[in-house]
Amino acid sequence: MSLLERIQKKDCNVGIIGLGYVGLPLAVELAAAGFHVVGFDVDAWKVGELNAGRSYIPDVPAADLARVVASGHFAATTDMSALAEMDCIDIAVPTPLRKTKDPDMSYIVQAVEAVKQHLHKGQLVSLESTTYPGTTDELVKPMLEETGLKAGQDFYLAFSPERVDPANPQYLTKDIPKVVGGIDKASTELACALYGAVVTKTVPVSSTVVAEMAKLLENTFRSVNIGMVNELALMCHRMGIDVWEVIDAAGTKPFGFMPFYPGPGLGGHCIPIDPFYLSWKARQSGFEARFIELAGQVNGSMPEWVVTRVSDALNTVKKAVNGSRIHVYGVAYKRNVGDMRESPALDVIEHLIRRGATVTYSDPYVPSFKAGGHTFNAISPAEALAARPDCVIITTDHGAFDYNELVQKAALIMDTRNALRTFAGQHIHRL
Ligand SMILES: NC(=O)c1ccc[n+]([C@@H]2O[C@H](COP(=O)([O-])OP(=O)(O)OC[C@H]3O[C@@H](n4cnc5c(N)ncnc54)[C@H](O)[C@@H]3O)[C@@H](O)[C@H]2O)c1
Repeated sequence: MSLLERIQKKDCNVGIIGLGYVGLPLAVELAAAGFHVVGFDVDAWKVGELNAGRSYIPDVPAADLARVVASGHFAATTDMSALAEMDCIDIAVPTPLRKTKDPDMSYIVQAVEAVKQHLHKGQLVSLESTTYPGTTDELVKPMLEETGLKAGQDFYLAFSPERVDPANPQYLTKDIPKVVGGIDKASTELACALYGAVVTKTVPVSSTVVAEMAKLLENTFRSVNIGMVNELALMCHRMGIDVWEVIDAAGTKPFGFMPFYPGPGLGGHCIPIDPFYLSWKARQSGFEARFIELAGQVNGSMPEWVVTRVSDALNTVKKAVNGSRIHVYGVAYKRNVGDMRESPALDVIEHLIRRGATVTYSDPYVPSFKAGGHTFNAISPAEALAARPDCVIITTDHGAFDYNELVQKAALIMDTRNALRTFAGQHIHRL
């Protein structure tokens, strides 16, 4: 039976390398659809938790995970030698930036190295990590061909980016169309068959590089538009115009406009990082990606702007940041998640401490975190408000916060998310 037929019959072994926000939901979907899925991760704790049916990703309900573990369709391991038994392999490992803002390809290289050790004829390898255009062709393919096996002849190779939006219940992995670009027609067809078994729609494109670039266009689009609207927020502040009302008004246009909102800065593993994969690669062709750099500068300046606005707010009650007790609502990078990666709240807190403030925080999703050599432990909003902080900053507008209580009890509030849009009061300041 050909690999295509086996995928269609769900009679094949699928390995997912990297069981994080991207890899785990996909692994569970594939397992629930009937594939035999092995999840590979270097983190032994995650592997232990997952094999016990305990999910650490909120978008993957523990019951769904436990069901596929119990049925024998999913197991996790740190033992990469089991890759030899896989018919299809999906790589979903991190792609962070180095301090220099250059791509850190070490995770992809390590994962591909593991695949290489166990590559055999007839396997499909698909890269899912977000990365610069050219990665599959220029990095992954030559590495795998060091085995003597030829891509397109002995094994299949594709790139298919992930678009998952953590904590968005409307669009889970299975609901989002998936772009697929193989190194040849057969690779594209196989990868489409695999992903098509669990997502509503696959979108085949002509090459791996188009699929890689499409993902970066999506994330650069967000970064640039958020940068533009953050600049508009600074401009509106200077001109005495309410930027939130402006956006709401413009948002009533039924075509040709899409609202983006200002905030304390970009966060998460994607939007602040991925565009720099593209600008780095473009620079190698002698091209300066000006929009990306400019958006990066504007978005990167937002945490400091928040602190400037806090300083202005304190000034209205004759106080300084230095010596003030400031309480932060929400440290995760976005609403209703516990993910702290690149969270702008960290920069806001660091700037506040540098200016002499004492900082506490509440976040129902983040019980503690470390930053700048300090360990911070969450306190409840009730405890925080009882201590009468000089100012409260809303950095993440989690749905669980009681904004009525906040507005009633806080002396001064800096709302960076327009979470208090329905409230009025001299003590409420907006970004
Ligand atoms: N998180 C998102 O919302 C999102 C959305 C779309 C795309 N992406 C992209 O998907 C990729 C994965 O992101 P994520 O958020 O799932 O990351 P993550 O950090 O949540 O998960 C990655 C997992 O890979 C494991 N890992 C690292 N090196 C490994 C190796 N050599 N072998 C096996 N496992 C290894 C880690 O232990 C971790 O469990 C990145 O390229 C990211 O940019 C993320």
